[in-house]
Amino acid sequence: MTLVTGPTDMLDLARLVDSRIPGRALPAPFYTSREVHELDVAAVFATSWIFVATEPEIGEAGDYLTLDVGPYSIIVVRDDDEQVRAWHNVCRHRGSRILTEPSGSVGNIVCGYHQWTYGTDGRLLHAGTQAPGFDRSCFGLKPVHVRSVSGLLFVSLAEQPPADFDDVAARITPYLEPHRIRGTKVAAQHDLVEHANWKLVMENNRECYHCEGGHPELTCTFFPSYGYTPEEMPRHLQPAYARYLAAEAELERTCRERGLPYEKIEELSGRASAFRIQREALDGAGESFTRDGRAASRRLLGDLDVARLGRTSMHHQPNSWFHLLSDHVVTFTVLPIAPDRALVRTTWLVHADAVEGVDYDLDTLTEVWDHTNEQDGTLVARAQAGVSSPAYEPGPYAPNESHVDAFCDWYLSRVREYLQP
Ligand code: FES
Ligand SMILES: [Fe+2]
Repeated sequence: MTLVTGPTDMLDLARLVDSRIPGRALPAPFYTSREVHELDVAAVFATSWIFVATEPEIGEAGDYLTLDVGPYSIIVVRDDDEQVRAWHNVCRHRGSRILTEPSGSVGNIVCGYHQWTYGTDGRLLHAGTQAPGFDRSCFGLKPVHVRSVSGLLFVSLAEQPPADFDDVAARITPYLEPHRIRGTKVAAQHDLVEHANWKLVMENNRECYHCEGGHPELTCTFFPSYGYTPEEMPRHLQPAYARYLAAEAELERTCRERGLPYEKIEELSGRASAFRIQREALDGAGESFTRDGRAASRRLLGDLDVARLGRTSMHHQPNSWFHLLSDHVVTFTVLPIAPDRALVRTTWLVHADAVEGVDYDLDTLTEVWDHTNEQDGTLVARAQAGVSSPAYEPGPYAPNESHVDAFCDWYLSRVREYLQP
């Protein structure tokens, strides 16, 4: 089958979806075409629950942040009753973007164009002089669904968001809650614009095939045997795998003693809110993502009484992954900007009472993931360049890329559902 790949040609999207060979990478237009980019926003980002921020980022009443998802702009704000709310950042007068800063603090939400003024609860409070019969109550901000799962904020632009997220929230909460995200503060937040389609960013994150060669800092603590089954473990990774098994056995003991869940739940496709969560051991001292594996912050999170707790790692389709450690939490969110551009936002959270320079050193805290993100940025930019060549042909996934395959299956099923409701 010949597929139209030119950027100005209309793609037959349904045919394109069907052209993917199971077990192989996606055909080129999925990474390069403007039509697919728009389809992704509509079919995936506007229909799913997407991770956008953490509660500590809007800790006080009136704190807000804005973010762009394709053509959408969303305000996430803590209202006067301390509830987290989300609104479309579109004025109900003549449509102006209302808040233009990435974050800040407001009493009311005031449109800069003609000063229509909304409460943080979305109600239109003032609209200057209006014609008789003008009913302010009809012109409140349009709501966006938002919910906090143990301090992680997810929004859904859908009128009816996927209902299965209730089940996901219930199952991940016991893993997240011990790290007490609501009791943390943002130590650092770094944005990276990666020169790649958002799916290449997510696919790259779903395998560690490239870790050994690509991430010297990460593999100080992240076992390079990740993703391999015992049968397929390459000989040179056997020592790392042996260390992993020993560390896992000890971690399970520590978790059982404290009633902390650690079992793997892996449902990366076959449902709308697809996810994976597991507490896994870290190499070295086994405490944190640092060069020697020791904790980066002296203040452990919540009521945790031991530093050597590995990482609770979670992945949530379509756009986020997380690592919760004994001493800090690091969150990652990916948002599409263009067919070949994606924003990757990384946030490091430490105990709210931890003092920089006393309890933690910022460079030590951020070093591993800053380097890793940069390395990943280079890798996915190269992948983007490669899939843009007419010579690109989707190749087969290796067994240790099964999460990538599941991500693509999930993505295609969301798109298929959208195209044939
Ligand atoms: S467009 Fe916002 S007040 Fe006029
Ligand atoms: Fe990577």
